Amino acid sequence: MERTFVLVKPGAVAGGLVGEVLARFERRGFRIRAMKFLQVDRELASEHYAEHREKDFFSDLVSSITSGPVAAFVLEGPEAISVIRKMMGVTNPLAADPGTIRGDYGLDIEANIVHGSDGPESAEREIALYFSESELV
Ligand code: RTP
Ligand code: MG
Repeated sequence: MERTFVLVKPGAVAGGLVGEVLARFERRGFRIRAMKFLQVDRELASEHYAEHREKDFFSDLVSSITSGPVAAFVLEGPEAISVIRKMMGVTNPLAADPGTIRGDYGLDIEANIVHGSDGPESAEREIALYFSESELV
């Protein structure tokens, strides 16, 4: 069993896609261990995406993730990190395969519907960033 951090981004929340995205993971068999609806501030956004601080798209990325409320989840299941990344599709929705979340619901790399941890260390770090120990049920 593995845990991963998933975040439905502001554009997808505004578009009414929280249920659609979560339903795919639930139907696949992943279990919800924590969930939260929140407004990400610039400090949390900068921590979350710290690996991209030097990139030219960083300020757009922070603006995008702070542009409205998000839905955050800890999901658990076998190989959750890699399986959920596969279900999300590649970063650019224009290149994402149909059948993936980004390939079915997105057209904009800045508003690519969903974030998922990309490895065990980032999963642990991101879960701790968004949830306290007592919020993991
Ligand atoms: P995420 O972290 O959001 O799950 O996405 P990812 O792993 O597929 O992609 P990553 O390389 O970590 O990039 C983080 C987010 O930055 C935005 N981005 N914009 N304009 C650009 O060239 C560009 N590249 C990346 C995307 O919103 C991406 O999800
Ligand atoms: Mg990433």
